[in-house]
Amino acid sequence: MNNNLTALITGGASGIGLESTKRFLQEGFKVVVFDSAQDAEEKLKIKLKSITKNLLIVSVDVTNYQSIIDGFGKIKKADLKPNVLVNSAGISPPTNALHEYSIDDWNRCIDINLTGTFMVTKEFISYFLDTKVDHGSIINISSIMGVTASAAQAVYSATKHGVVGFTKSVAQDYAHKNLRVNAIGPGVIETPMTEGVLNDDNVMNALLSRIPLKRVAKASEVANLIYFLASDEASYITGAYIPIDGGYLSS
Ligand SMILES: NC(=O)c1ccc[n+]([C@@H]2O[C@H](COP(=O)([O-])OP(=O)(O)OC[C@H]3O[C@@H](n4cnc5c(N)ncnc54)[C@H](O)[C@@H]3O)[C@@H](O)[C@H]2O)c1
Repeated sequence: MNNNLTALITGGASGIGLESTKRFLQEGFKVVVFDSAQDAEEKLKIKLKSITKNLLIVSVDVTNYQSIIDGFGKIKKADLKPNVLVNSAGISPPTNALHEYSIDDWNRCIDINLTGTFMVTKEFISYFLDTKVDHGSIINISSIMGVTASAAQAVYSATKHGVVGFTKSVAQDYAHKNLRVNAIGPGVIETPMTEGVLNDDNVMNALLSRIPLKRVAKASEVANLIYFLASDEASYITGAYIPIDGGYLSS
């Protein structure tokens, strides 16, 4: 049991975030979920069977700084001191050639995937330093698109490359505080985000031909990596980008 350890998980009500919520609870962590979905609590109730006293669900929109500050107010009120942050809130916008992008679509993706990661991380680190927690770990969910790119995904790829650079810099800033910061690069993972892709045989065949393991991953497999990076087993890993892609980037 990890008594007194707390993980804050953005986007913790769906997909990779949800599986991470489950895993950290199983490992004895208290978990705080920041999610903007109206039905976040309902979804978690169904997926977890019940809401345990170790789970605090807070309605937070990571694009809204005041909403994040209010979220940290609730963490403080509950006397929780998170030592793990998982930045999983994210969107994958419609794929378009660049000249067809709307400025609004561009800004929304940057706001959630990149600026949201920055603003939550900023507040997490301030609180981490204030509460004098002696060690911690931040895991940012980038993508294989954080180090490579595919056509018609300019904004998604820009945000995910941004998350990798952000991670490497922040890792250097806070290593002396025993705070490790890493990014992971999932390939194709079965979550609500990829429903459209998974149901499209042509797209799937093209993708599978590039994945040496010849399958997509379950979100729980990504949660395994996230939990490992949060744990003391990963005590010498910081500033890293770790792919979890069935071999996609090697092919
Ligand atoms: N699924 C994949 O194949 C895959 C691959 C690579 C990277 N990723 C990344 O992993 C992360 C999680 O993706 P997923 O597949 O679990 O997606 P998902 O759609 O299942 O879950 C995303 C969660 O983020 C929340 N969210 C969205 N906007 C938010 C906001 N403004 N404020 C707070 N919460 C918000 C949603 O409500 C949802 O609960 C994303 O950053 C995504 O880009 C996913």
